Amino acid sequence: MTEHRSKDSFTSNFGMVAAAVGSAIGLGNLWRFPYLVGQNGGAAFIIVYLALTALISIPILLAESVIGRRGGGAPAEAYRKVTGRKGWGTAGILGMITCLMIMSFYVVVGGWTIKYMMLSCMWQFHRGAVIDSAAMFGAFTSGSISPIVYSITFIFLTIVIIMLGVQKGIERTSKLMMPMLFVLIILIGIRSITLPGAKAGIEYLFRPDFSSFTFDSLLAALGQSFFSLSLGACMMITYGAYTPRSSNLTRSAAIISVSDTFFALIAGCAIMPAVFAFGVNPSQGAGLVFVTLPQIFTQMPLGGVCSVLFFFALFLAAVSSAVSLFEVITSSLMSITGKKRTTSAAIVALILTVTGSVCSLSQGVLSGVTVAGLNIFDQLDYVSSNFLMTTGGLLTVICVGWIMGKDAFTDEITAGGTIRVSKNLASALFFVIKYIAPVVIATTAILIIV
Ligand code: TRP
Repeated sequence: MTEHRSKDSFTSNFGMVAAAVGSAIGLGNLWRFPYLVGQNGGAAFIIVYLALTALISIPILLAESVIGRRGGGAPAEAYRKVTGRKGWGTAGILGMITCLMIMSFYVVVGGWTIKYMMLSCMWQFHRGAVIDSAAMFGAFTSGSISPIVYSITFIFLTIVIIMLGVQKGIERTSKLMMPMLFVLIILIGIRSITLPGAKAGIEYLFRPDFSSFTFDSLLAALGQSFFSLSLGACMMITYGAYTPRSSNLTRSAAIISVSDTFFALIAGCAIMPAVFAFGVNPSQGAGLVFVTLPQIFTQMPLGGVCSVLFFFALFLAAVSSAVSLFEVITSSLMSITGKKRTTSAAIVALILTVTGSVCSLSQGVLSGVTVAGLNIFDQLDYVSSNFLMTTGGLLTVICVGWIMGKDAFTDEITAGGTIRVSKNLASALFFVIKYIAPVVIATTAILIIV
């Protein structure tokens, strides 16, 4: 099947893992995870999140990479090859559309991270600064020009990496950015947990309160696990196609998930203790990062430095994830139109400039345009997370579990018998992919609808 594999591939398994970790660690970890923990009973949410990630998400991640590496090429092509049926190409197209929708609001938030990185570098959040962070955030994001310029800047930075290609762009920048990101978040974590009064935040994170954990929390935990690991949108199918035949997919899936989860936990330790030390409400919602934190920085010793480090980390996390979303769309377009990488990437950038701008305006002048009570920005987030990613995940597990079958699955994860994977582990993973995952995904999808 190698003839379908793109020549521009990851140089090593480590390159693939770095890029996939880059995709997984994103705004989801720094921006979504801490406030979901805050709203859903602290450690209770974390425990359920960990269990769902280990039981359901890791096998799905593996299933995606199996399809990608076995099929090669863009998602639609990979689906068609592994199933031998033309109609399955639709699953790949769905992944491309999902990425386009996620990317449309992702670039807006990406633009905000650039703005806040600049504000922090201009020393706006130093200790003692007097700011009204809520008014500041509201005024900026509801504007019509400035946030759009920032999101176009964000698109531009991402497109440069995509145009450089898989090896020189994605792999090289991921290998550089990921270690930086871990160092940054650990530094902020150390500052945060050494604040007086930080203990309450740690307790909050690690002492379960099942009374505020509801059934909705369970759905939120699964949705977050999907979003954070970039599942159900063909990310690992795309990256799987660039993965060397000799690499151990099972181990890689585990490393990617563990790194992502570990990062989310450190992010929690970096944010929650500070939130508690300053007596702020932890379940603030999405404003936590852009409203609550700047306010806290201005009150905390070394706040200015921390704000620079934090917003730089947020930016790195956003770019590396955006790269993967962008790559799914670009590689799909390359295979559909037969155009070169640079041309395809430029077309994607143009489309995103339009869709991203509309999303950005939905925070301001277009805020009155709502579908079922949600503005365009929130609606895209809601539909992609709750319907498209779950449908994508369902198609992936059906494809591997019911169409490819156990022999092809085992052949791929053992690379034709050259990599040792214990028989029991392979059977267990396949069992989850074939029976457990489809039932869990379908059940949650139905529950979200009713
Ligand atoms: N995982 C990213 C985050 O946590 C978001 C993301 C990147 C994503 N690529 C994706 C989500 C592909 C779904 C599909 O922020």
